Amino acid sequence: MSASLKIIPNRLIDTIHHTSKWGAKFKWGAKDTNTGMCRLSLSQDEKMVRDWLVQETQKLGCKVKIDEIGNIFAIYSGLKEGAPTAIGSHLDTQPTGGRYDGILGVLSGLEILRTFKDNNYTPQYPVAVVNWTNEEGARFPKSIMASSVWAGVSDINDIYAIESITDEKPITVLEALTSIGYKGDTKACHKTNPLKAHFELHIEQGPILEKEQKDIGVVTGVQAYSWIGINLRGRAQHTGTTPMDMRADTYLTAAKIAIVVNNITKKHRGLGSVAEIHVSPNVVNVIPDSTEFVLDIRHTTDAGLQNIEADIESEVSKIIKGTDVIMEFKKLFHNDATHFNNECIDIVQECATNIVGSNKTKKMISGAGHDSCSTTNAKVPTSMIFIPSKGGISHNPVEYSSPEEIEKGFKVLLDTVVTFDSK
Ligand code: GLV
Ligand code: MN
Ligand code: MN
Ligand code: MN
Repeated sequence: MSASLKIIPNRLIDTIHHTSKWGAKFKWGAKDTNTGMCRLSLSQDEKMVRDWLVQETQKLGCKVKIDEIGNIFAIYSGLKEGAPTAIGSHLDTQPTGGRYDGILGVLSGLEILRTFKDNNYTPQYPVAVVNWTNEEGARFPKSIMASSVWAGVSDINDIYAIESITDEKPITVLEALTSIGYKGDTKACHKTNPLKAHFELHIEQGPILEKEQKDIGVVTGVQAYSWIGINLRGRAQHTGTTPMDMRADTYLTAAKIAIVVNNITKKHRGLGSVAEIHVSPNVVNVIPDSTEFVLDIRHTTDAGLQNIEADIESEVSKIIKGTDVIMEFKKLFHNDATHFNNECIDIVQECATNIVGSNKTKKMISGAGHDSCSTTNAKVPTSMIFIPSKGGISHNPVEYSSPEEIEKGFKVLLDTVVTFDSK
């Protein structure tokens, strides 16, 4: 169907590079790079790209709705009324992010609408580009934050109260939304602001497609993951005078926990990391009396994740036992394993096969979380399309997918949306 729609070559990739001017540097270290991005959720840089997206979609005739948690829905009319088929992802990045994670998904949605307009093509039903607020959880530590409010999985007032962890003076989600003017008036609710389907084009962010020389990942779901905060309290003492057996050293305890987590997750064939850690007072000759860190635990099955969490709790208590270190566990985030909609998966497979050939496609599970988990939680038919990531690297300024890989992904997305809409 969409074979008849003429695509303007390179416009999508040019748009990606054009919009990267908003946030094209690191906040930490203020290091300009050719490819790196620091566009934290609800920051001034993010406001600029949001404003731009709203203007560009309005130029195409879209009706734009902003919900109470800042999600943007730009809706292109169809021949018939009804809930829109959405193309969604996120415009926020990690503090040390690249130009493609999330951004590709939103801007390819815009490119689809531009392609419709160029071709005077009207879909059967409305088609929307959606920008979900704070997918990354980097500034406000909650992954897929606003899509999970829309899906009814998180309470909006709990989310409004979350404080930023990347600002010198922390601010809440509500304050940040208000300060950039993106606390909209549409209720953040999948029941009153529904979607007919959700499709997300994303970079794989891992090494599998590149290693197996595949062009398109047909994503069948997302592994389960949780983030657990561990706060340790001990005693600050002189490093030169305190005998080794008389210390309450919270950093040493954290290091032991990190090793135990590594062993447990390997045993259960899952993934476990300590990637955020705050040590205090962080001085060379003072034993740290406070260490706070976050465990990121993942497994392809819910049962696997539960086993890892249970083993961690029991093994960590053994490390603490008999020491003067006090530990507090905080469950910060959890998302069950997600299984995408079979019909949507089949359409992606069919379109990908037509475009790149079945031997260049691979059915796979996503290692990273995505807003498509939330739309699935809201029972919206959903699936995702992956393209290769160079070296499997993401959340890093060198993150890269080539213009050719992006074009193939875009064509599969366009075909998928048109095929779904015409069914
Ligand atoms: C979500 O971005 C994740 O960490 O997988
Ligand atoms: Mn992403
Ligand atoms: Mn990311
Ligand atoms: Mn992500």
